[in-house]
Amino acid sequence: MKTPNKNLGTVWGRDSEQPVFNSLNGDLEADVAIIGGGITGISAAYLLSKAGLQVIVLEAAEVGKGTTGFSTGNLYAPIDSRLFSLDEKHGGDAVKEVVASRVAAIDFIEERVDEFGIECGFQRVPWHLFTTPVEDNGMGEILKEHRAALEAGLEVSTRVPADFPLSVTDIITIPGQAQFDPLVYTRELAANISSRHCQIFENTPVLDISDKDPCVLLTHNGTVRAKKVIMATHTPKGIYAVQAAMESKREFALAVRLKVPLPPPAIYWHATAGGQYSIRPYQSSEGDYLIVLGRSYTVGKNDQMKGSYQSLEKYIRSRFDVERIDHIWAAQNYRPADHLPYIGKSVGDNNIYIATGFAADGLVYGTTAALIISDLIQDKNNKWEQLYDPKRLTPVASAKTVIKENLHVGKELLKDYIFYDRNTELNQLKDGEGKLVTVDGEKVAAHRDGQGTLHLVSSICPHMGCIVHWNEVETSWDCPCHGSRFSIDGDVIEGPAYQGLAKPSK
Ligand code: FES
Repeated sequence: MKTPNKNLGTVWGRDSEQPVFNSLNGDLEADVAIIGGGITGISAAYLLSKAGLQVIVLEAAEVGKGTTGFSTGNLYAPIDSRLFSLDEKHGGDAVKEVVASRVAAIDFIEERVDEFGIECGFQRVPWHLFTTPVEDNGMGEILKEHRAALEAGLEVSTRVPADFPLSVTDIITIPGQAQFDPLVYTRELAANISSRHCQIFENTPVLDISDKDPCVLLTHNGTVRAKKVIMATHTPKGIYAVQAAMESKREFALAVRLKVPLPPPAIYWHATAGGQYSIRPYQSSEGDYLIVLGRSYTVGKNDQMKGSYQSLEKYIRSRFDVERIDHIWAAQNYRPADHLPYIGKSVGDNNIYIATGFAADGLVYGTTAALIISDLIQDKNNKWEQLYDPKRLTPVASAKTVIKENLHVGKELLKDYIFYDRNTELNQLKDGEGKLVTVDGEKVAAHRDGQGTLHLVSSICPHMGCIVHWNEVETSWDCPCHGSRFSIDGDVIEGPAYQGLAKPSK
């Protein structure tokens, strides 16, 4: 089985008329500037503009088409790393509070769907976590999650539904979770709130921020001055302590056509010894799809990436009667050391708020973040403010991962610099290949495209100086240290880097 040679794109948004927003051209002032037009940024813009504040949203590409549009559209109260793991790390009422905040976020989304009549296929569905006889991980994981979910106040069933598509060993089901099309939801919410009080700009990357009074945000064609700034950018732009406490992961997703009818609407999480597979059916005007999300791999690790894709394709083909694969994409996430996101005022900043570390649970956590930060900006108390406060980044709960992640970054730096010079000459580079080479003593990331044209950029990540790695599936340069990703011409695709990869000097 080969890895795909191109990313075929996500399955979302094909049913809707997409609004278009202009890019910023000129200087503006606002009460709040929001960087990022995903579900976090647009939800915060809704709340703050409704409260009468002047809001500006600056999206580097197109609204909803970043991380939000790469998700699988599942909305659930549990979390990917398991509620019982959260309990082991934090104890007390942490699990109960996390579940309550996530339930409130799902309800908020449903209310907006109703308020604006958004046709994004929102529906309440059950969530299943299960093991199967072949791949039972044998760790009593389902039992532990069952207990944690009950303690958090969730309704849980252990009955196997009659029409369940796979034979199971253990299963728990939580009713009343939800699914939707995340791209249609976010773009239509944006279209509905766009007004004189809420200005949204696309294709407007922020190049620099000064945390002053007011803050100053620099873009290519204009400057925004704002009293408060929300970094709704998945991971904060620039250098932040939280980046050392998060691992950057990616996961492949496939949307496949089956030769048989789809299983019943639900969120299916299959726990296996090597990681989790997440499955959901999706009906669109294009046809019926089964979407499956695979095991995660570390950003910038080509071998892990290939293995992850291959195991995903094998997984789905061996369990379902697949006619063909129509869509392939990959989604990035930042996994926090202590299984809790960082939401709130950034430590060391006066007027900047961050929302990051959502792991693979970002549609709900992004909405949670919008609810919390919009309260903080209005000087209102929020009952989950303390739970997710970035100031907790310290000691015990996260220490091991912080150390591990920093060692990982140090190792990446050292390894790549030591082995750098053993690389292919430029003229040996085949069409479609990307390699690290030294040209006249300069470290260069080189890619030859399908037409034979060479694309040369610096291989040094402008965030903190790690070396980028070639991603042959998505034809990008990926940094293994904190997850910045760049196009073949060096433009920032995602991650904490403000600037793209530099052009070589000669
Ligand atoms: Fe931090 Fe590249 S993303 S060094």
